[in-house]
Amino acid sequence: MKISQQSKYLAVLTVFFFTCSVSSLLAKPKDKDRWNSKYEPEVYLFGEKPIPFLVDNVHLLRKGKVLDIAMGEGRNGVYLATQGFEVLGLDISEKGLEKAHNLAKKNKVTIKTKVVDLESFTLEPSSYDVILCTYYMQKDLFKQFQSALKPGGMIVVETYNVDYLKYVQFSRKWALDTNEMLDIFKGLRVIRYQDYDDGKEAYSSIIAQKPE
Ligand SMILES: C[S@@+](CC[C@H](N)C(=O)[O-])C[C@H]1O[C@@H](n2cnc3c(N)ncnc32)[C@H](O)[C@@H]1O
Repeated sequence: MKISQQSKYLAVLTVFFFTCSVSSLLAKPKDKDRWNSKYEPEVYLFGEKPIPFLVDNVHLLRKGKVLDIAMGEGRNGVYLATQGFEVLGLDISEKGLEKAHNLAKKNKVTIKTKVVDLESFTLEPSSYDVILCTYYMQKDLFKQFQSALKPGGMIVVETYNVDYLKYVQFSRKWALDTNEMLDIFKGLRVIRYQDYDDGKEAYSSIIAQKPE
């Protein structure tokens, strides 16, 4: 009797762990597939033009190696390549990165790209002059930015904040709290910071520098 209860218990545990590991294996391809199909149309989902905050402040950035985190279709990384930066873009979507290369070609520049899952990726320490990250929220990765920068290197980060929830249905976990970015990057010297809100969109943007 005892033995059969034990084996029932073991069987339940086995099914539980099998289900968990299968669902965790399936989670990533889902993200990848979702973004690949969003990027399938020829038109650029986020446009071909860089974000205004980057264009307005590009003169502040130190020339050199840029890491574009979650590059997508490359609107920002390609712009930096046209300004003389050496750009490496990372993203889970090979379709997005293919479009980034096409955009680079159209702008007569070259970029490097790598397909990676940022949720299980470690940034190389002291390697980049600029880390760019727009509209990709992964707080544990943000914490690696400081060590991945060379001394004097800078981050450029922009993403939706909590005010955006007034205008669209958007998951709270993907929106920054008020002033949260200042807290996340408190080890860096803030060069520019803004909270933008035009009654339709609301986001926070920062440029900050690692001490020399
Ligand atoms: C809202 S888009 C932003 C793209 C780009 N930064 C921009 O502003 O145009 C979010 C990007 O994150 C990428 N992404 C989502 N999950 C990812 C993951 N786990 N690893 C790498 N990239 C991921 C998507 O493929 C997509 O390109």
